[in-house]
Amino acid sequence: PAAVIVGIDGPSGTGKSSTSKAVAAKLGLRYLDTGAQYRAITWWMLSNGIDVRDTAAVAEAAAKPGIVSGTDPSAPTIAVDGADAAGPIRTPEVTAAVSAVSAVPEVRARLTELQRAIAAEAPRGIVVEGRDIGTTVLPDADLKIFLTASEAARAARRSGELGGKSASDLAATQAALAKRDAADSGRKASPLAKAADAVEVDTTELTLEQVIECVVTLIEDKQ
Ligand code: C5P
Repeated sequence: PAAVIVGIDGPSGTGKSSTSKAVAAKLGLRYLDTGAQYRAITWWMLSNGIDVRDTAAVAEAAAKPGIVSGTDPSAPTIAVDGADAAGPIRTPEVTAAVSAVSAVPEVRARLTELQRAIAAEAPRGIVVEGRDIGTTVLPDADLKIFLTASEAARAARRSGELGGKSASDLAATQAALAKRDAADSGRKASPLAKAADAVEVDTTELTLEQVIECVVTLIEDKQ
């Protein structure tokens, strides 16, 4: 069959990464975590002393770092200027700064171009996850999925991943997540949004296995 291009978008904590990786592995497709790229460029800016609130400085720096994304769903990797960035991109500092960096059009243009090139090279196809894949990066994708879940469910999943145990950990995670989603949805440059032709899947009451099964079936129906 021809290569199949799948875009999976949605807010934080809806299970985009777990679902995308598992679906790609099951179907022998490549996998691209575009959030990891935004995090990697943010990490590079923080490491190089760039003030992420200074839009002009961020725009100017956007072209500088070399970013390489591995597309093996069983072991996705990300490197910036030759340094493995997989660990540092998940720190609270990067998470707090990434929405400011990703709102800058020059950053988005740079990464969108990279994302399109990676998708075009995938011989059997690829699952690309992010916020603007269906609307902007791959508007001609064969299948677009928009994952949602209640804010409480998303916060509980994310807090669990971060090892949070108390009610105040959960409340802090929920507040940080709501703030990031508001920034990502409210920005001018390709905000988080559901494409008109995307299939919306509400994962609030579903297990990860059920979501994976649902997406695999939707892809098989397209092939
Ligand atoms: O998916 P993840 O939570 O790792 O994404 C981190 C951040 O990267 C998001 O909060 C958003 O600001 C940005 N992002 C984006 N567009 C994408 C993917 C991620 O703006 N396609």
